Amino acid sequence: MGKFITVHSFKGGTGKSFLAVNLATLYAMQGKKVALLDLDFRAPTLHVVFEPMFLKCWINNVLDGSINVKECMEDCSDRIDNKGKLFVSFADFSTEAIREMVSKGKKWEIEALQRLLQMRRDLLDNLNFDIVLADTSPGIQYLAINAVVAADVALVVSTLDDSDVTGTVRMIQELYDVFEKKTAIIVNKAIGYGTMNDGEKTKILNGLHEKYKETVIGVLPCFCEVGAMKRASVFVLKEPKHPFTKMIEKIATKLDAL
Ligand SMILES: Nc1ncnc2c1ncn2[C@@H]1O[C@H](COP(=O)(O)OP(=O)(O)O)[C@@H](O)[C@H]1O
Ligand SMILES: [Mg+2]
Repeated sequence: MGKFITVHSFKGGTGKSFLAVNLATLYAMQGKKVALLDLDFRAPTLHVVFEPMFLKCWINNVLDGSINVKECMEDCSDRIDNKGKLFVSFADFSTEAIREMVSKGKKWEIEALQRLLQMRRDLLDNLNFDIVLADTSPGIQYLAINAVVAADVALVVSTLDDSDVTGTVRMIQELYDVFEKKTAIIVNKAIGYGTMNDGEKTKILNGLHEKYKETVIGVLPCFCEVGAMKRASVFVLKEPKHPFTKMIEKIATKLDAL
């Protein structure tokens, strides 16, 4: 039975899309059948990375109920030299589509949740994906929280910025815990973490909320190479031996075990 992992955060720019792309690629390279979904309808990103060529529809159409997810996936396995199976579903990045998605009402959101749950069943039970990774918008609006509700594991990405940490902890307590969601946290862009000694690293983690600390499955330092890299290249593919790739591999293993 496969696993649906939603990558979410309280604030924007924490590295969700970057991590979703790299984790999906890593899993596919390990031979898994992976689906990567762009559920960030406010700021779609995956089309910039994978440059789809044969698109017939968007994941927006799946949530509207007009089409099955199977029709809206592009086989991107060739981008990873066919090392495994990687299918990607893209969000409509036109200005009209983004405006439309952010102005949807509660009734649509509830229907969209049902369709998201159906999509989950289609991907895991009918199409036998091993891993589904969903990239989402930051924050607590319904669309993002729906994706968390549909997930087996909610992977939350936070920086060490104190407003991010405080918001993340509140979001987990007030929302995730209500759904009894299995939660894992990645602290990303931890400036200076790479060169800290163990004592300093422990001090940073001890400074976090007790609850927050327990579920941290990785702390990733801020790497200039990552920030400077063009979107269209996938870090773990381009830099397979880089220490950052090794850290993402460890995170993938921990997520697997959850
Ligand atoms: N550990 C890191 N070190 C340096 N830059 C990073 C790191 N993680 C992500 N980035 C960069 O930060 C920017 C924002 O990341 P992104 O994945 O788009 O965030 P989000 O999807 O959460 O808004 C991107 O340019 C990305 O390459
Ligand atoms: Mg993003």
